[in-house]
Formats: sequence, structure tokens, C-alpha cells
Amino acid sequence: MAERDVLLEVEHLTKTFPIQGRNRERKQFLYALDDVSLQIHRGETLGVIGESGCGKSTLSRCIVSLHKATEGKIFLDGQDISQMRGKERKNMHRRIQMIFQDPYSSLDPRKTVAQSVMEPFIIHNIQPEGMSRLERALELIQAVGLDQYHMHRYPYEFSGGQRQRINIARALTVGPELLVCDEPVSALDVSMQAQVLNLLIRLQQEFHLTYLFISHDLSVIRYISDTIAVMYLGHIVELCPAGDIYQRPLHPYTQALLSAIPPSSPFEEKEQIELKGDIPSPIGRQPGCPLASRCQHCTQRCRTERPELKAVEKDHSVACFLYSQ
Ligand SMILES: Nc1ncnc2c1ncn2[C@@H]1O[C@H](COP(=O)(O)OP(=O)(O)O)[C@@H](O)[C@H]1O
Ligand SMILES: [Mg+2]
Repeated sequence: MAERDVLLEVEHLTKTFPIQGRNRERKQFLYALDDVSLQIHRGETLGVIGESGCGKSTLSRCIVSLHKATEGKIFLDGQDISQMRGKERKNMHRRIQMIFQDPYSSLDPRKTVAQSVMEPFIIHNIQPEGMSRLERALELIQAVGLDQYHMHRYPYEFSGGQRQRINIARALTVGPELLVCDEPVSALDVSMQAQVLNLLIRLQQEFHLTYLFISHDLSVIRYISDTIAVMYLGHIVELCPAGDIYQRPLHPYTQALLSAIPPSSPFEEKEQIELKGDIPSPIGRQPGCPLASRCQHCTQRCRTERPELKAVEKDHSVACFLYSQ
């Protein structure tokens, strides 16, 4: 098998937000991301799962440069994009596009579909090869499953699922390699979710795309991902092939996340792993494992020493002292 080519590499990424503490002299920081490292291979999908507030959106926003990372590096195709400025950065960002969670606020209500989809051509001064901008916009609209007669309509005339299709067409205009999808189906009805997921899977093949796909829904993540990263409080605690997540969840947090899914029938016996205790504050950098206060396996070491994300077998890494010395 050919060597898998790394398209995006994130190294020791940390993002803090200053917060107004009670104590005015000492500035405090909220650690939204704390030393996150990951790779995404070309043509594959990395799914990121975690509860609300664990840092998923912050990660995606750092990758598309909506946030400046506090520490760490982001490489696209081996080039460090975290330090780029001006034109260089603009060019690089043609290669990375983002789909947001809310399909209602992400389209300009005053623009027709055709105008919205063609806008990136103007921003990036792109002339499609051998056709007009309008013709290319129509091709993209059809590629996402809409019709010609939709081109001159306004966003209010569409459902959430259709709007998300328009957002996807707009993201494809500039010919990106990486699509960062931050909960793109979370605001949609379940039937719509499946349609948009299947569309993304089809477009991945057709346009040779690589995805960073974020969700808080394990079944969605499992369906679309090749590799899954489990996040907890700004850390990646487990990284494994999608198939392993149900079969061999290793981290106590991943196990608890899985046991929270209701059984498929009332007769299925399922062990419930409950996380007791309080979620620690994300303010300031806490020593030890982020799960220590809620983990049934917690030892003294877990409270003082931070477990690193380490490979326990090929392609399966976990940040837990249960698996490493
Ligand atoms: N602009 C901001 N200023 C201050 N805190 C923020 C900001 N954005 C996010 N946070 C905090 O960072 C943490 C991670 O947030 P976020 O990345 O939105 O999580 P998720 O997308 O997983 O729900 C949360 O504690 C959130 O309150
Ligand atoms: Mg979010």
C-alpha cells in the first residue's frame, strides 16, 4: 500500500483566552486548547468528538486562521501556515475552507444563491477555466444536489439542509483541499443529517477532499470518519481508527462517552460508566490528567502528572497511565 500522505499537521497547539478575574492584578487565562497535536492524511476524514466546550470550535477556528494560536504550529503540506501574513496567507486559505454549524447565519440574506456562490471568485480573483463564473457556479450548485432554478433565489426560501448545501458549494468555489466542517449537520433534522453526510462523502471522492469533521454526536462521527480524535477539556485523550471506537475504546473518558449511548433495545444489557465529580475549571493550567477528578481509575500520579498521548498499538493512541508507564 502506498504511504499515506499527510496534508495537515498540528503540533503542540495551545489557545488561551484572557479572562477578567476577580483579582485585577493577576491576569487569568482560559485554556480552550492545551497542547493538541494531530495529523490528517490526504483524502481522509479526521472526526473530532467531544462534549460542548471541550475546544472543538477553537481547534477549527485556529486551523482556518479565525483565531491566532497562542502556541504551536499548523502545517499544510509541510508549510507552516500559522505564521503567514498578507497575500501568502490569503493564498494558503484558498486551500482550506470551513463549513459552519448554523446554516441560517452563514449566508448573506441579501444575496441570491448565484451571488453567494460566485463571491469567492471575486474575493480571490479567480477566473474558472474555459467557462464563465456563472457557469461554474451552476456546476457546483448541481454538484451539491440543487437545481438551476435555485440559482436566483434568496436564502430565506431554503430549508436548513439546502442552505448547508449552498454553503458547501460556496466553499468548493475556490478549489480547496481541506474542508473544516464544524458541526455541519448538528442544526439539521435527522433525515437531513444523513443526506448532507452522504453528500459530503460523495464530494470527498469527486473533488479529492480531505476533511476535519467536528461533531458531538458519536454516530455521526463514526459514519463519516476514517480516524477519530476524542477531546476532553482542550486535550486529545484518544486517537484511533473509526472502527476501534466501539470495539476497543481505551480511555476511561471514551468508555464513558460510549456507555452514555442508550442501548438499541430494552433487552440489551449495557454497563453504564458514570463520570462522577465536577468538571475541573478550564481556567489556568491544571496539573495532571484532565479527567482525574472524575475517573474511577485515578491514582495519585494522575493528579500530579499529565499523561501524554502515546501509541499503544499501530494507529491507536491514548493519553492514560493505565496503558503506559
Ligand atoms: N472568544 C472566546 N473568549 C473566551 N472564551 C472562549 C472563546 N471561545 C471559546 N471560549 C471558551 O473556550 C472553551 C472551548 O470552547 P469551544 O471551542 O467553543 O468548544 P466546543 O466547540 O467544543 O463546544 C469553552 O470553555 C469556551 O467557553
Ligand atoms: Mg463548537
